[in-house]
Formats: sequence, structure tokens, C-alpha cells
Amino acid sequence: MAPVNVVVVGASYAGLHIAHSLLEVPDVKVALVNPSTNFYWNIAAPRILAKAEAFKAEQYLLSITDAFTKYTARKVEFILGTATAIDVAAKSVSVTPNDGEARSVSYDYLVLASGSTTTSTTGEITGFSIPFKQSNRDDLKELIEAAQQTITGANNIVIGGAGPIGVELAGELAEAVEQSGSAATITLVSATDRVLPMLKPSGSSAAANMLQQKNVKVITSTRVTDAEASGDAWMVSLDNGEKICADLYIPTTGVIPNSGFIPEQFLDKDGWVKVDKEMRVESSENIYAAGDITNNSMRLSFKAVEQARVAAHNLKVDILGNGERKSFDQGESIMMVVPVGESGGTGQIYGFTPFSFMVKMIKGKDFFISKAAPMVAGKA
Ligand SMILES: Cc1cc2nc3c(=O)[nH]c(=O)nc-3n(C[C@H](O)[C@H](O)[C@H](O)COP(=O)(O)OP(=O)(O)OC[C@H]3O[C@@H](n4cnc5c(N)ncnc54)[C@H](O)[C@@H]3O)c2cc1C
Ligand SMILES: *[C@@H]1O[C@H](CO)[C@@H](O)[C@H](O)[C@H]1NC(C)=O
Repeated sequence: MAPVNVVVVGASYAGLHIAHSLLEVPDVKVALVNPSTNFYWNIAAPRILAKAEAFKAEQYLLSITDAFTKYTARKVEFILGTATAIDVAAKSVSVTPNDGEARSVSYDYLVLASGSTTTSTTGEITGFSIPFKQSNRDDLKELIEAAQQTITGANNIVIGGAGPIGVELAGELAEAVEQSGSAATITLVSATDRVLPMLKPSGSSAAANMLQQKNVKVITSTRVTDAEASGDAWMVSLDNGEKICADLYIPTTGVIPNSGFIPEQFLDKDGWVKVDKEMRVESSENIYAAGDITNNSMRLSFKAVEQARVAAHNLKVDILGNGERKSFDQGESIMMVVPVGESGGTGQIYGFTPFSFMVKMIKGKDFFISKAAPMVAGKA
């Protein structure tokens, strides 16, 4: 039997799981395309960026290629590069390798797992990257180090947005300031009238209290309208007319799909890939998608893995020609734990606001960093 060729675009939470899972199938060959050699445990980004000493780089940047050496070269090819276009009729993907000539890679099945980025990662507002996500190049170690240095050197930091990333970052930064004995100030600007507006009010007020205790200045019901460089500093304008002078402005809002290479027919108006419940790309035969890139609105890593499980299973059913298909439903319930520094935090678990010490135990102590190795190995 001729091998079945599967091309997976994106090697992060979703793509890694699918690649490993399909490699278990005899006669399947996987080409995995990703612009970085390392997987990034970005869940820990707020602590990594605020506290350079908290983790070692090898705990949050893990080799993708090492995780695939257990398969033969006939089964798997890792292509260090970027997918730039898809030719649906010819069933091929154009890939520009980091080094070398652009090439075309043929597929029988295609998996889109290219995820999302953020405005802070691209640096499109401030001209400087605070990498909360993969940079979509192979330079993350350098970017993280540069961001850590800038953050450590800043005396006035303004964070825009009080979702989980903004709150976690504010908590970590405030703790770093406390630990170093510096006099830096941290301001968190929230457009909503309470921080973490997706949680029950008790979760929001718990977070607000913890931030206050850590001397974070929280400004609610206020939008950042502009952030302008003035010399070495930033002038952050608020919609109440106030201006804050900061040496660093970090926006934490804005999730951007990595969909530049995906034909428009597959995208919704915001650029996310339209998938059905079986994770098949709408109006396609042999293309699946999973994770942040899809139009499932809960863009969380554990949802990405759940989607990856369903996509991998249904792909196997297609390839082997037997088995029951599975479906994915993101559900309604909010599942979230938000550390505010190392000592505690808040969130929502099955409708309840967890005790602060529970958040510390679950996530605050290490941001699940020990799960990074099983994730890259396909054991998550
Ligand atoms: C600061 C922060 C903290 C978070 N914390 C949590 C948390 O605590 N819990 C939780 O559940 N979720 C958390 N999330 C969300 C989580 O990061 C995402 O849900 C998760 O990364 C989605 O995984 P993915 O595999 O779909 O895509 P991504 O992780 O976005 O990965 C996509 C991959 O595809 C690659 N790629 C992109 N374009 C191309 C291309 N053209 N060609 C080839 N490769 C490409 C990228 O470089 C990347 O490697 C957090 C997010 C942020 C920003
Ligand atoms: C994604 O898009 C498809 C096609 O438009 C739609 O059927 C599906 O309900 C959407 N998913 C979500 C979670 O909105």
C-alpha cells in the first residue's frame, strides 16, 4: 500500500498531539511544518517574562525534533519553515523553509494547527515583542531574554487588559518588584468594570483584592486609547482623558489568527477556520483543523488538545475506513485558574470560585510546567 501523506501545519499543543497520534498508524507518513525548532510552554509566559530566574529555558522551550526521533525518517519529516499557501485542487502546501528554497509538499490529508498570536507578541503596537506566544520564527529564546531585560529595567509598567493574561502578569510583576526591593510601579487598566469579567463577581473581587495587596494600581471601566512613544518612555492615553507616563506598555488583549496562508473560503469574517463538530474544515473533504485557529471561541490549550484528540481520531477513521466518528463540543462552562503571584489566586471550576490556596496548589506553584515534556512527546 502506498503511504498516506498527512501534512500538519503548526507544532504546538494541537499539532504535536495530532502528529504523534497519526504516526501510530502503519502506512501513514507525516510532514510536520513549524517555523521554530522548539515548542513553547507559553502558559507560563507571565512568570517567565516577569521573573527571569523562575524557570530554566529548557523547562519551557522543548526540542520538537528530539520528540520525533523515535520514529523512522520514512515515517516523519519535520520541516523547519512556514506554510505560505494551500492549493486545494492540487492537494499541496507551499512551504518556505527557514533556510533554503520554497517547496511544495503534497498531502492526502491536511491538518491546520497554526494557532494564534497576540499584539504583544508581534509588537505591532509598541514595536517591541513581549512574547506571550510563539513568534512564528526561530528566535524565541532571544526574544524572551530581551523582554525579560526590558521588564526588569522598567520603573513604570502599564498593562492594558484585565483578562487572565493581564491579571497573571500584574501579579507576577508585582511580586518580582517586591522580591527585588525596587520601587517600580505596576498599573493595570481594565476596560470592564471589574477585572476577570468572564468569572463570577466573587472571582473578580478576589483578584482585585490580591492585586491591591500587591500594590498594583487597578483602573477599571477605562480604555487605553493610544500608546505613543516619547523618547525612552511611553505616553499611555486613557479614554477618561488621563495620560500615564510609562517606560513600558504591555497590551494583553487581542488574539490574532495565524491564517495568512489559508484560503479565504475556509475562514469566517474574523479569520478563524470554520470547522464542523468533527473538526473537519467546512466544505472540504480532506482538511481538518484543531486548536486556536478554529472558530471554536474558547482558545485554551486544554481545549486545543481536546479538539486535537477528536481530529486525530476522525482522521484515523477516514484513513483506515472504519470506526465511529467522534465530535467536539466546547461546552458553556468556564474552567479557569488564575494565579495572582505565587501565593494564591482565583478562577472558576465547575461553577465555583476556588479557594486561593487551591489555585496556588493547582497552578500558582509552577504554571503546570512539568506538563511541557509530556505535551511535546505526544503524551498529553
Ligand atoms: C500568556 C498566555 C497564557 C495562556 N495560559 C493558558 C492557560 O493557563 N491555560 C490554557 O488552557 N490556555 C492558556 N493560553 C491559551 C493557549 O496558549 C492556546 O490555547 C494554545 O497555545 C493553542 O494551541 P494551538 O496548538 O492551537 O496553537 P498555538 O499554540 O498558537 O501554536 C501554533 C503553532 O503553529 C505555528 N505556525 C503559525 N503559523 C504557521 C505557518 N504559516 N506555518 C507553519 N507553522 C505555523 C506557530 O509558530 C506555533 O508553533 C494562554 C495564552 C496566552 C497568550
Ligand atoms: C464554526 O463555523 C461553522 C460553519 O459556519 C458553524 O457551523 C459552527 O457552529 C461554528 N462553530 C462555533 C463554535 O461557532
